[in-house]
Amino acid sequence: MALNLSRPVHHLDPLSPDLHEDAARMREHGPLVPVELPGGVVMWAVTGDEAGRALLKDTGLFAKSPSYWKALQRGDIPADWPLLSIAAPAGEAITNVDGPEHRKLRRPLAQALTARRVEALTPVITSLVERLLTDLERAADESADGVVDFRSRFAWPLPMGVIGHLLGVDEADHPELGRLYSALFDDTVGDGRDAELSLHAWLDAHVSRLEKDPGDDLISAMLALPEEDRLPRQDLVVSMYVVLAAGHETTTHLLLNAVRALSAHPAQRDLLLAGEVPWENLVEETMRWDSPTANFFTRFATRDLDGADVHPAAAGVRIAEGDPVFVSYIAMGRDPERYGPTAGEFDVRRGEAHTGFGYGAHFCIGAPLARLEARVALERIFARWPEVAVVGDVPRAPTVAVNSHTHLNVRLTPA
Ligand code: HEM
Repeated sequence: MALNLSRPVHHLDPLSPDLHEDAARMREHGPLVPVELPGGVVMWAVTGDEAGRALLKDTGLFAKSPSYWKALQRGDIPADWPLLSIAAPAGEAITNVDGPEHRKLRRPLAQALTARRVEALTPVITSLVERLLTDLERAADESADGVVDFRSRFAWPLPMGVIGHLLGVDEADHPELGRLYSALFDDTVGDGRDAELSLHAWLDAHVSRLEKDPGDDLISAMLALPEEDRLPRQDLVVSMYVVLAAGHETTTHLLLNAVRALSAHPAQRDLLLAGEVPWENLVEETMRWDSPTANFFTRFATRDLDGADVHPAAAGVRIAEGDPVFVSYIAMGRDPERYGPTAGEFDVRRGEAHTGFGYGAHFCIGAPLARLEARVALERIFARWPEVAVVGDVPRAPTVAVNSHTHLNVRLTPA
C-alpha cells in the first residue's frame, strides 16, 4: 500500500525508552516515511543519509519557512502543540528563511564563528573546563556515595558558559535561561511557544543593555556594524535566540552521549589515552553513532513532488505541496547504506565524515565551536578519571527532538 500521511507507519513517543529503536523501525519502511509525532501531528520523516542530504541541499523543493505548512496555515496545528516552537519557530530567523534573506542573516554569524576565531577561544574554554572539573570533583567528594550528576555539574554549564561568554551574558542569568530553554525540549508540556517568546523578550532586553553599555561580545560587535550590514532589531534578537539555543543544548547532549559511549567501551578509551586514535574521532563517532539531535529541523514541500526527488528507493511516495518533512538525524547516523553492516557499532577508529551537523546552506554555523569544546572537555575528563563510570539509570529527556538525558550520574576514580 502506498505510503500516505493519513497512515503513519510509526508513532514517536517522547517517553520512548530508546529513540534508536524508533529510528530503526522507521527506517525499515524506507528512506521517506509518514510518522506521527507527539500530539497527533503527522509529518514525513527522512530516515536515510543519502535522502537526508538530497533534501537538505534542495532549498527550492524543501523550504524552511513555516508559511508553506498548509496544516499550520489552516489552523489545524494547536497553538499549544509542544513541538511548535521547534517545527515552526516564531519570527524571521536564520533557521526559517532561505535564499538571499538567509544569506543576509547568516553572514555576520558565520564570520564571527569561523574556525580561526573559534580557535582563539581555546584559553577561555580550557579554563572553564578546568574550573568545572574541579567543582565536579568537589561535589563527588562531598556526596555520601561519591556519585555526582555530570549533566548539571559539567555537560550543561560548559556550553552555556562558552556561548554566554560569546554573547555577553552574565553567569547569574544562566539558570533562568536554562529553565526557559529546557521547556522547549519537553514534549510532555505545552508551553514551548511561551518559553520561546519569553526568551525573545529576555534577549531584547539584553540587546538594549548592550546598546547602552557595549562589551567585547558578538552582539555588541553586530550592533557596531555599519548601518548597511546591521540586522534589524527583531532579526538580531531572534538570531541570538537561535544561537543561544543551538549553542548550548546540543553540545550538552554530545558531551553526555560521548561519556556514556566511551565509559562503556574501555578498549576504545585505551586507544585514545595511548594516543593511537585522536580525540577528534571520539567527537565525530559520537556525533554519528548517538547524534545529539534526533528528529528535528522541519522543511516544507514547495510543490507536489515524488519521493524519487530525494532517493530512488522512495519513488512513488507522493508528497503534497505544503507537507512538512523532518530529518531523522538519529536514523541517518546509523544508516547501513552509508556506513555499512557495522553502522550500529560504536568504533572510534572510524573517524568518518557524517551528516550530524547538517548539510547544504543551513550547515551548522557552530560546528567548529562544538567540536573544540567537546574535544578539550572529553580529553581532560578521561585523562583525569579514565575509569569514570556511569551509575544507575540514565533517563531519556522527554522529547523526540533531541537525543539526550535528564541526568547522568557518574563515579569518578582518579587515574
Ligand atoms: C554538538 C553540537 C551541535 C549540533 C549537533 C548541531 C547541529 C546542527 C544541525 C544539524 C544544524 C542544521 C539545521 C538544519 O539544516 O535545519 C545546525 C544549524 C545551526 N547551528 Fe548547530 N549544532 C551544534 C552546535 C552549535 C553551536 C555551538 C552553535 C552556535 C555557536 C550552533 C549554531 C547553529 C546555527 C545558528 C544553525 C543554523 C544555521 C542556518 O540555518 O543557516 N550549533 N546545527
